[in-house]
Amino acid sequence: MAEHLVYITRQIPAEGIELLIEKGFKVVVHDPAQGPGRDEMHHWFSQASAVVTLLSDQIDRDLISHAPHLRIIANYAAGFNNIDLQAAADFGIRVSNTPDVLTAATADLTWALILGVAKRLVESDDYSRHGLFTGWAPQLLLGREVTGKTLGIVGAGRIGQAVGRRAAGFEMRILYTSRSPKKEFEQATAARQVSFETLISESDFISFHCALNQETRYLLNRDNFNMVKPGACIINTARGPVIEEKALADALKSGQLSGAGLDVYEHEPQIEARLLKLPNVILLPHIGSATTETRAEMSRIAARNIIEFFNTGRLLNPVL
Ligand code: DGY
Repeated sequence: MAEHLVYITRQIPAEGIELLIEKGFKVVVHDPAQGPGRDEMHHWFSQASAVVTLLSDQIDRDLISHAPHLRIIANYAAGFNNIDLQAAADFGIRVSNTPDVLTAATADLTWALILGVAKRLVESDDYSRHGLFTGWAPQLLLGREVTGKTLGIVGAGRIGQAVGRRAAGFEMRILYTSRSPKKEFEQATAARQVSFETLISESDFISFHCALNQETRYLLNRDNFNMVKPGACIINTARGPVIEEKALADALKSGQLSGAGLDVYEHEPQIEARLLKLPNVILLPHIGSATTETRAEMSRIAARNIIEFFNTGRLLNPVL
């Protein structure tokens, strides 16, 4: 096999890099913690046969059209909204992602946020650390019940369904939206497919798991926020722009929402300034898939897609 150059835009777990080197690929990794600048991206895209990219790298037409040897973009993420797929298709470049492996990690984190917001964990921890805990009190830091409440899953794909299955222990009523009915999921959890409007108006916990695309950008926005059930909690471990962040901050501030748990942001990594000041929001730095096991497997999957492509012309996890 001719030596192919693989450019990796950030240091990822070694597992995938080692696989590529073992198979004879020449690998260049951008090492500094902050991402490569535009010039560096152009430099390596113009030489590489394959690239491993992160969800924070904008792979646009300009980069793609200046990559004469590029055959495959292996995105180190399940989501791929950072890649201009039309441009990739126009230049005959294949795209892969890393689905499945991060389902459990992201569903677990979603539950950490549901419980963390409902039980006011961060506020309570802060309270204790600041020496304010002077003894048990009947009305101290009252949270919300989760058991028996309604969970609304926006986008019942792999992760949404995994979140729903984890709700069984909390005896929750489950509503979901999806392009197609999920019969097995319904049988396993008694979940009911409903419209987005019904879901937001009836759910106590509204959890976003849809992909970001033109249909889902600002799915929850200033115009439909008034349909959200008063006192609901919003959880987002999908992509920030599915919610209009300023409208979310308003709803939290006014008390229309009782809380929110966010792992993703509209203008990531920037966070709406007002959210930073609100005590009823938990703000995480996009760590849905951040377990040692999952990130190592994501690294292997990105590498395996590249290896498979140059061996057989096929992808294991094709997006395009
Ligand atoms: C993804 O893979 O799309 C997650 O957002 C990060 O792991």
